[in-house]
Amino acid sequence: MNPVRIGIIGLGTVGAATVELLNTNANQISARIGRSVVVTHASVRDPSKPRDCDLSQIELVSDPATLVSHPDIDIIVELMGGTDLALKLCQQAIANGKHLVTANKALIAEHGNQLFAAAHQQGVAIGYEAGVAGGIPIIKAIREGLASNNITSVAGIINGTGNFILSEMRDKGRAFDDVLAEAQQLGYAEADPTFDVEGIDAAHKLAILASIAFGIPLNFKAVYTEGITKLTAEDVNNAEKLGYRIKHLGIAQRSEQGITLRVHPTLIPQSQLIANVHGVMNAVRVESDAVGESLYYGPGAGGGPTGSAVVADILDIARTIDADAQQRVPYLAFQPDQLNDLPLLEIGAIESAYYLRLQANDQPGVMAQITKILGDLAISIEAIEQTEPAPDDRHATIIMLTHRVTEQSMTKAIKQIEALPTINGAITMIRVEHFNTRQSS
Ligand code: NAP
Ligand code: HSE
Repeated sequence: MNPVRIGIIGLGTVGAATVELLNTNANQISARIGRSVVVTHASVRDPSKPRDCDLSQIELVSDPATLVSHPDIDIIVELMGGTDLALKLCQQAIANGKHLVTANKALIAEHGNQLFAAAHQQGVAIGYEAGVAGGIPIIKAIREGLASNNITSVAGIINGTGNFILSEMRDKGRAFDDVLAEAQQLGYAEADPTFDVEGIDAAHKLAILASIAFGIPLNFKAVYTEGITKLTAEDVNNAEKLGYRIKHLGIAQRSEQGITLRVHPTLIPQSQLIANVHGVMNAVRVESDAVGESLYYGPGAGGGPTGSAVVADILDIARTIDADAQQRVPYLAFQPDQLNDLPLLEIGAIESAYYLRLQANDQPGVMAQITKILGDLAISIEAIEQTEPAPDDRHATIIMLTHRVTEQSMTKAIKQIEALPTINGAITMIRVEHFNTRQSS
């Protein structure tokens, strides 16, 4: 059989690793799929820059438009990032009948609905495994491995940079900016690292996971998003003392009322596996009716793991390139005409336990005022601790853990407590997840 011909747009961290992997494991790849895969063309912004891969067999160009219309390319692999030029190029590639592989979760989360519709019309495949959780084959696991299950929840650490920063700060006491700079150097971070630390990257990934888990169109704008930049060392230490660990989680849940999608720092009991996922590692926890709870773990960023996912998608497409398009696994796990528009609920609708930290005047009656507000809103306290004020300070710090309650009630309580004249400044609120294991059916 003829080789499958690849054109790669972008030879940075992921692109170079993809080329290297295709070269290094060429024999086993052709043994697996029954034909060889060759990168014939690649496009970069600056062709004079040295690359971390062998370019001797590759025609290197600076204009990516030449690749998407090239008659001798079967699969376009988009590894340049961004959602402007990348979108145009992918649209052109699809219109020209090329199959597409991308690691660009922003592109899929924000424009996937239209790209998949266009690809369906053209009968071409789109692979995007590399977009979520790096080296963990989580798209395949949910879309194919759990295809018989009703999935009710997907939650996880889905940004390697953020987890690397939180781990290094907690374990080694390193400064935020210093660890972020290292993550950039290691090739983990996005071109704009605010995507990592403000939760936008995790929101992109969560929108994709929710879509394939629940059979809904991509809804990036519906994801409630908080980053890790406002976390303080004080809260990280308090969480540890209380037996919890703070992780930056993406959580998608389905209930009878609808779907909630959220990304935020979360306290998790230290005994949970997911609380012990450190560094650049990611973990995704899925709850489904037949399996119950399953957890998927692996490196969430970096050239090797991401390149591995890119190559897996290339091989999947290469295997079925001559087959009837109807026989392929649907882009978003369900047939395009079977996607549900389930209601997307606001963050106020979630139910969660909460960690609160506040500063109050060190005087009699303050605690009673606070607990009355909570009691009136049926918010029950699991633990409460007050630290003595420093000699030159008249404010005591109160730390509280609550039982589960709706976010609407908690927000109301926080507003009322902050309005008390005995309370100093804003209350810090962090959601708490216990992940109580449910039995499979
Ligand atoms: P990167 O290292 O910055 O590489 C981007 C590549 O795209 C560079 O080779 C760059 O060329 C090329 N490029 C940019 N604009 C171009 C243009 N207008 N025309 C032609 N080439 C252009 O980025 P990366 O980390 O590999 O990430 C690539 C994609 O993978 C992104 O969508 C990212 O979100 C995704 N991703 C990354 C990781 C990771 O761990 N890094 C993991 C999962 C997904 P020059 O080198 O000449 O500048
Ligand atoms: N910047 C992303 C992360 C790359 O750190 O998780 C992997 O998607």
